[in-house]
Amino acid sequence: MSWNPPISLAPFSRLWGTLAFRLTASYALAGLFLVFFATASLYLVLVSELEKSTDLFLADKVHVLRTMLRERPDDRDALREEIELESAARRYEQFYIRLLDERNTPLLMTPGMADQLDLAQLASQTQSRPDRTIRVKGRDGRAFRTASASAPVGSLAAQTDTIEIAIDVSQKEELLARYRFWFWAILLATFAIFPLVGYRIARRGIRPVEEMATTARHITSTNLRERILPEGYPSELASLASTFNQMLDGLEESFERISRFSADIAHDLRTPVNNIRGEAEVVLARPRTADEYRDVIESCLEESVRLSDLIGDLLFLARAESPLTHLRRERVNVGELLGGVREYYEASAADGGISLTTNVGDKPVVADLDRTLLQRAVGNLVSNALTHTPRGGAVVLGTGVDFSGVDFSNTDFSNTDRSSADFSTIRIEVSDTGIGIPPEALPRVFDRFFRVDSSRSQGSGGTGLGLAIVQSIALLHGGNVEISSQPGQGTRVTLHMPASSSCAR
Ligand SMILES: Nc1ncnc2c1ncn2[C@@H]1O[C@H](COP(=O)(O)OP(=O)(O)OP(=O)(O)O)[C@@H](O)[C@H]1O
Ligand SMILES: [Mg+2]
Repeated sequence: MSWNPPISLAPFSRLWGTLAFRLTASYALAGLFLVFFATASLYLVLVSELEKSTDLFLADKVHVLRTMLRERPDDRDALREEIELESAARRYEQFYIRLLDERNTPLLMTPGMADQLDLAQLASQTQSRPDRTIRVKGRDGRAFRTASASAPVGSLAAQTDTIEIAIDVSQKEELLARYRFWFWAILLATFAIFPLVGYRIARRGIRPVEEMATTARHITSTNLRERILPEGYPSELASLASTFNQMLDGLEESFERISRFSADIAHDLRTPVNNIRGEAEVVLARPRTADEYRDVIESCLEESVRLSDLIGDLLFLARAESPLTHLRRERVNVGELLGGVREYYEASAADGGISLTTNVGDKPVVADLDRTLLQRAVGNLVSNALTHTPRGGAVVLGTGVDFSGVDFSNTDFSNTDRSSADFSTIRIEVSDTGIGIPPEALPRVFDRFFRVDSSRSQGSGGTGLGLAIVQSIALLHGGNVEISSQPGQGTRVTLHMPASSSCAR
């Protein structure tokens, strides 16, 4: 059977869940503890100091009387003055002394002592604890500290008298009582004020966090412009705010790219579909000859091929981003692969009056790569180079091995049992002497659907996905791609790939 508390604890646990409450509670408890500790220890010090000063006074008096009894036992006047007159002359903290002989017969006594104190009780109490001062209550309830001491009489100590002494400490006790009153008053005030102050401090401290939360709440996919102004924030929260702002910058950029990407996809899909539809509508408007139908069907087929290529490219990019994508790695002789690509594009290079050559050196460059993907990447680069190189220009495909920045292209591996694939990275370059790319466009050429001159590329059939695919292929292999270009002089794209699969992701 489960136990249900008589009152619901949900509101308390909700309150405990808030940072402000926890900070307030910790602050108030710490403050309360500190004030309690400080005032209580001061009180104890005060009590002990007051007791010490009283005890010192009593000890002093006893010492004076003992000296007098030992050294001038017959000087009764001096003793009387010490016992009867000096005390009577005091207004505050009056003390009383009684001198008894060995048979406990009072010899001298401060006037009024019997009115203030129960002497029989005093004698029994003080004599039972002869070396200590003790607290006793007077007849009217006033507090006294008392002590008793034996006092040898004369230098030969022929007899021993007893000194009983009591001092009124009621004023000191009143002082302590006033202290205790203020002690509890201060504790009560602390208990009331500290949570309020703590709450204000906690709220001030967490205000920046709340502002960040409010900003975060206002952020939607259509409103990524909100930023936090970290002015006046403590440095820890200012750095959190600027990290948050940086994250928003990144998100805004990604969202913009995605929405541009979607718009580009829609546009690039619509164009061929519209073309097919337009041609079909025109040709169906009236009867046509067989040749006319053939022309239109051929044109539609061309558009369908473009459409399916575009969809294929998009699918490839989407799959390349999936962490589940696996490469079919095999040992690839990169020089031979470049030769194959060169042969494939030879005819179109010749048509454009461009020289297409390979520069692969004598030593084989071998690496663990996905042959089909590499062909596709190099093919895209060659196709770009041929498209953007005017008649009479040159396109060169090259490869080499790098090891920690050292060029191994001239190293002879034939006398060792190792091949270049055991070394760090291989380099594959496609360079041309074409029109080049303006510097401001260079950082964006790997973006999807980016074309330097969209109207021109559109005409030449480019969708702006070629370099994005090249970059995905490089990343899939654990490598990267670099581009450098001089407008009017040419462009060079370099793929850096880990030579052995163990170096890749
Ligand atoms: N070798 C080059 N010389 C000059 N400009 C280039 C070169 N390579 C790429 N570019 C520029 O970069 C843009 C992006 O190239 P990318 O290969 O991604 O797209 P595309 O060639 O236009 O279309 P796709 O390759 O998808 O058919 C090109 O439109 C072109 O403007
Ligand atoms: Mg291209």
